[in-house]
Amino acid sequence: MSAPTTDHRDLLTWVRQVADLTQPDRVVWCDGSDDEYRRLTDELVGTGTLVRLNPDHRPASFWARTDPSDVARVEERTFICSADEADAGPTNNWVAPDEMKRTMTELYRGAMRGRAMYVIPFCMGPLDAEDPKFGVEITDSAYVVASMRIMTRMGSAVLAAMGSDARYVRALHSVGAPIEPGDADVPWPCSRTKYISHFPESREIWSYGSGYGGNSLLGKKCYALRIAGVLARDEGWLAEHMLIIKVTSPEGRVRHIAGAFPSACGKTNLAMLDPVLPGWKVETIGDDIAWMRFGPDGRLYAINPEFGLFGVAPGTDWTTNANAMRTLARGNAIFTNVARTDDGDVWWEGMGDPPAHLTSWTGESWTPSSGTPSSHPNSRFCVPIGQCPTLAAEYDDPHGVPIDAILFGGRRKTTVPLVAEARDWTHGVYLGATLSSETTAAAAGEVGVVRRDPMAMLPFIGYHAGDYVNHWLSLGKSAPDAALPKIFYVNWFRRDDDGGFLWPGFGENIRVLKWITERLDGRGAAVESPIGLLPPPSAIDVTGLSLPPGALEAALAVDPDEWRAELPLITEWFERFGDKLPAALWAELDALRARLG
Ligand code: GDP
Ligand code: PGA
Ligand code: MN
Ligand code: MN
Repeated sequence: MSAPTTDHRDLLTWVRQVADLTQPDRVVWCDGSDDEYRRLTDELVGTGTLVRLNPDHRPASFWARTDPSDVARVEERTFICSADEADAGPTNNWVAPDEMKRTMTELYRGAMRGRAMYVIPFCMGPLDAEDPKFGVEITDSAYVVASMRIMTRMGSAVLAAMGSDARYVRALHSVGAPIEPGDADVPWPCSRTKYISHFPESREIWSYGSGYGGNSLLGKKCYALRIAGVLARDEGWLAEHMLIIKVTSPEGRVRHIAGAFPSACGKTNLAMLDPVLPGWKVETIGDDIAWMRFGPDGRLYAINPEFGLFGVAPGTDWTTNANAMRTLARGNAIFTNVARTDDGDVWWEGMGDPPAHLTSWTGESWTPSSGTPSSHPNSRFCVPIGQCPTLAAEYDDPHGVPIDAILFGGRRKTTVPLVAEARDWTHGVYLGATLSSETTAAAAGEVGVVRRDPMAMLPFIGYHAGDYVNHWLSLGKSAPDAALPKIFYVNWFRRDDDGGFLWPGFGENIRVLKWITERLDGRGAAVESPIGLLPPPSAIDVTGLSLPPGALEAALAVDPDEWRAELPLITEWFERFGDKLPAALWAELDALRARLG
């Protein structure tokens, strides 16, 4: 943390320009060292942003509470500022780049007064990749620096690797809360005005007003999905909202599976799955983002560009996600908007019986009779992925792992069966393009509303969604069929008539993965249905599982009436794409309609 040790002229110029505009007290180049992290977290404890947790429970870990208005991604305030409005498509907010830059330049003017301006060189993916994907985030939030240290490879090694002329993504962030002389800071500075803006042509990100992870850790959603998605479109690869796992069968057969589920729909849990079936092993490669490109053998290889886990806290427990609990027990975590116990540990809904007394995420005294959740439903843990006991050895391999299967999934109380297999790549792309899910607390807005979420990427496609599904289709044509991953559609969240989950989920999901790997091996029974190939109930290994009678059948059922009711919704969805919707997808919809009769 000192003067810049770089002769990267473009970077030095940009940093000077931003400092001139935002007028911070000082400019700090982040080196990524332990010392720096200690100093920053000490400072954050001093300003009240972080509270140090009891090291007996949570070594080197901290508790943060945000402003109650700044708890999730803000999709309404997220913009794709392409030169041509048509390139942003029907699913993004658009403002002309010049106009957005004018507006935000005025917001940034003096925005860092009274604060330090941190310069964070970072790299998405391994630094020893053939073409490392660099970024530099400038931020006035020490919480962002501490979190970026967990979530990305950052600091001196990255700056050195950038040399004097590497290309990098400029990522500018301000909480938008200057401290005027004589004023005191607040624990969670932010602004009522928020913009999360992307400039795909110039590969820039400008974020203002929010400190929440998805809005402020700009390597994650903004770079690794929205900007990288544009690079991927241009260069023939995929930047996706996917977990990556390595699954080993009792016979030692290794398969790699990627899975796209919308935010708060089970990626992190599946990525760390603790299998209930004896002899099966699941190892973690990524829990949120996959970059996939074809290898020389025509197979699709995936890497996880991230360095940490930013997981949903509620629901995480020894019974549901023991590996997350083990990862967190090793310390070095930042918990945001969970509750704190009286002896300096954390607690959230779903973690067994509640203690008699807590401090809630809003800072209030809380007891089990309070009648409100102690933790925000989108409260998060942020922890180094290197601490995950199930991390696969391949995690750091810049070449990635060959993907055998892709899962699309969502949160649907009805209609969508536990698992279905696509007939071929095009049908699989259709399943992804029509993916539907109930909205969650991961984004501001109403929760529980069913919406279409193509490939779980609705909030993250940095260009026209029609071009995006076309990109998926055309990639399928560039590789031999046998080399392409098989595509499956899953739903862990179907309910019975009493509102309970039909399927127990979590570690039990290995039973579904087992059927999927059997299908990859050319074994495993499947029956035709209007929506795809289904396992007959007898094809799911339920050894040691006692389900209520009929529950598995109900979880796997395809009800033609329910599916006929989806048809107008899918039609309406496709119509939004105009002439950008590939004819092949209309043909899939027509074929589905015909099969439903
Ligand atoms: P992500 O945001 O996609 O990574 O989703 P998470 O894995 O963090 O899960 C989001 C929420 O869904 C958490 O509250 C989990 O406990 C819950 N969840 C995850 N997997 C399952 C599952 O298989 N079944 C059920 N019922 N809930 C799940
Ligand atoms: P998630 O990541 O997918 O794990 O919820 C954060 C997000 O997508 O907002
Ligand atoms: Mn996500
Ligand atoms: Mn997650």
